[in-house]
Amino acid sequence: MPANSESQQRERLLTEVYADADEASRQVAGEIAALVRERAAAGRTVVLGLATGSTPVRLYRQLIRLHREEGLSFANVVTFNLDEYHGLPPTHPESYRRFMQEQFFDHVDLPSANIHVPSGLTPRGEAFAACQAYEKAIADAGGIDFQVLGIGRTGHVGFNEPGSTRESRTRLVTLDSLTRRDAARDFLGEANVPRHAITMGVGTILSARRIVLLAWGESKASVVAQAVEQPPTESLPASLLQGHADVRFVLDRAAASELTRFKHPWLVGPVKWDALSARRAVVWLSRTVRKPVLKLVDEDFTEHGMADLLTEQGPAYRLNIRIFNELQHTITGWPGGKPNADDTHRPERASPHPKRVLVFSPEPSDDILGMGGTLRRLADQGHEVAVAYLTSGNLAVPDEEALMAADLALDVGHSANGTDASPAESFAARVRAQLQAKAPLDQDTEEIRRLKGLIRRNEARAALRASRIPGDRVRFLDLPFYERGRYRQFCPDVADLEAVAAVLAEIRPHQIFATGHLDDPSSVAAVCWNLVREALTGGRNAPWTEDCRLWLYRPPTRPWNPAEIDMAVPLSPTELTLKIQAIYQHKSQRSQTPVADVSLQEAWQQADASNRATARDYDALGLAEYAAIEGFQRGAL
Ligand code: GLP
Repeated sequence: MPANSESQQRERLLTEVYADADEASRQVAGEIAALVRERAAAGRTVVLGLATGSTPVRLYRQLIRLHREEGLSFANVVTFNLDEYHGLPPTHPESYRRFMQEQFFDHVDLPSANIHVPSGLTPRGEAFAACQAYEKAIADAGGIDFQVLGIGRTGHVGFNEPGSTRESRTRLVTLDSLTRRDAARDFLGEANVPRHAITMGVGTILSARRIVLLAWGESKASVVAQAVEQPPTESLPASLLQGHADVRFVLDRAAASELTRFKHPWLVGPVKWDALSARRAVVWLSRTVRKPVLKLVDEDFTEHGMADLLTEQGPAYRLNIRIFNELQHTITGWPGGKPNADDTHRPERASPHPKRVLVFSPEPSDDILGMGGTLRRLADQGHEVAVAYLTSGNLAVPDEEALMAADLALDVGHSANGTDASPAESFAARVRAQLQAKAPLDQDTEEIRRLKGLIRRNEARAALRASRIPGDRVRFLDLPFYERGRYRQFCPDVADLEAVAAVLAEIRPHQIFATGHLDDPSSVAAVCWNLVREALTGGRNAPWTEDCRLWLYRPPTRPWNPAEIDMAVPLSPTELTLKIQAIYQHKSQRSQTPVADVSLQEAWQQADASNRATARDYDALGLAEYAAIEGFQRGAL
């Protein structure tokens, strides 16, 4: 990776981009190992500043591997963790101390006396003194040699939320509402997320001799680009790292995707133009100068760093028409292909018809949210649509929903059986008792999870009924990685892979729809996507793969940009309404409290807004004006 090329001219600190989070973590683990060994050889200690969250988990796994397989010893290592939730004991499942024990400390030979994590139990009145003592301990250890960081969506590092100053030191802070919402899944509800935390300050972090910030997945892309390319500001604490002499952002491709050199490379140097980059550039230009594609003129291109594009592929009118046609040809009302029609310029082939279509949905509702309109069309146009729900989604069901379901089951049992309790009734009674005995932060029992999974199953069935997909084509895989896992800490294995491979072998699809390939690798969607990808790779020689296409759909919060869309399926106003009605069937996923803030919109509102926005984008490019569009990108099989 070039350290500082022309294309990185807007980057105010060093960035390194790797193919994926594993490769990046291997690299950083190797760097830490080298430092640890070098110090050990000199008979010295090394001080590591450590972070929590899903981001560094892969790094810790690599370090553990180096310890086990290559004899890397941590005997000379002293660690200081960035932060801890205030109020949580070290045994709490969400405490950072426990996280560190489980993810790293328990697996290596780090002496426990060398470990430092701020205590969540420090009384408020003593917090100031405890924070000063933490700072002193860092100084006494010789200062931090190597600081590992993640980044929150507010741009926080540690728990230094917007507003934290460059000089801030270890202290008690109040958490931002977005940060608390991001933690809500871990805590099984936002109400359970602590409001305060103890964190090292930005100044403490800046005192480290070397800083490496890690970020994976597209949800971090925007905040990473701001921290790297915008002037430093306290409203985005990670940007304050810019002042440091030895800091790097280590990214996967998705987290780097909003950096100018990837998003708008023509603005920062010469571009090797191909069909795709030309399309991206023209779509961007049309948006930037607010003109439809066919009205762009040579000056628009030359004034926006695209003179060489004109030289290679121009003049403007020719390029415009080509791109216009390409965009036009993405639009189809026949997502499964139009039978007996010329398909030269259609995104999907005409035959075979009908097709066997397999939709992979990581959690129940991802399918409807991302492609509910298209699902219905595929069914209406006679295709054999099968939906495979990869996980049960039971972690996302509020207790109250489960209580209602248990009560209902009990009532049904009573009215059907009189006084004899049926097995179903006893199950419901047990779940009810377990729910009532459960403290807000307790993990669900296996039986509670089972009932919650059944709730989501039936919501998914109702949503598919509304989309006219026959129930016998629905598969609930309840993948084991999810059933035994927790958010951010899923560990899929061969049983998960076999289950996915089995559906593929059973359905032998002509078309596959899937999602999750750009997500944070620890998310449910990304874990599922990787299983689908591995299963596809494993089944590459199966005869059905010769006549199969893969289409990638997106969550409403991050729709494809028109330049990335290979198939755009327009929805009429009525179809959009029907899609929303189908989303409505996922009742347990509705917000539990009314919300006013737009960023906290309900899922159906997000789907509605994003499909309408894509249609508006097509309209603004000078294409037909539809009410709504669902976009798909063709994936490589
Ligand atoms: C929390 C932690 C941060 C971490 C951030 C992102 O707020 N205090 O240190 O960087 O979450 O978490 P994740 O890595 O799970 O995306």
